[in-house]
Amino acid sequence: MTTVLYVTAHPFDKTASRSLTVGDAFLEAYRKANPEHTVTHVDLYHLDIPQLDAEVLTAWNQLKSSRPFEKLNQESQRKVGRLNELVEQFLAADKVVIVNPVWNFLFPPVLKAYIDAICIPGKTVKYGPEGITGLASDKKLLHIQSSGSVLSEGRWASFEFSHRYLAAIFNYMGLNAIDFIYVEGTGGAPEQAASNQKQSIRQALALAERF
Ligand SMILES: Cc1cc2nc3c(=O)[nH]c(=O)nc-3n(C[C@H](O)[C@H](O)[C@H](O)COP(=O)(O)O)c2cc1C
Repeated sequence: MTTVLYVTAHPFDKTASRSLTVGDAFLEAYRKANPEHTVTHVDLYHLDIPQLDAEVLTAWNQLKSSRPFEKLNQESQRKVGRLNELVEQFLAADKVVIVNPVWNFLFPPVLKAYIDAICIPGKTVKYGPEGITGLASDKKLLHIQSSGSVLSEGRWASFEFSHRYLAAIFNYMGLNAIDFIYVEGTGGAPEQAASNQKQSIRQALALAERF
């Protein structure tokens, strides 16, 4: 059974978001093309993602020093247990779709919290004598993001940190198959913005057939 994680990092729904509109068009076409696949929506704004705070980092160090999980205090057990669930859910997926707006030249902070939850030594990356090996190489990623300015080329291209970071960190976890759809220039002239969005939807529909 093929499983897809549809990860959204947006506080609104698709009626107020261009990235989610394109994401939704992709998803609808994908579901039509692959009715037997399971799609799970991971809505990061409505998800319990523990921060990597002093409690979590201390608990991880204690576990590394062979302290049994049951000997951690209750709150540490809850946070570490929840982080484990998130990485296991990621590991169980065959395909991942990430949708986000660009905020201050990056993605919203909930997405970084999610990456901190799934980029885990021994689970998604391995450090060994031969160096670092990504352990999630069996997965495909599609990244859809929307930005007010044009970031794919021109004046602001060097400010495109969001997709470059995501491509780098997922590559570090072993993913090489990474597709990307820009929904950009949304803050420009309305006709141009609308035309860009239509183009992005066309791209999404085409990609849904082969992703
Ligand atoms: C808090 C905030 C920060 C933003 N920062 C940027 C930015 O740094 N660069 C950019 O091109 N657009 C920026 N924008 C514009 C959004 O990226 C743009 O409106 C985009 O279409 C949002 O995606 P959405 O329609 O899915 O919400 C920002 C918007 C908000 C609300």
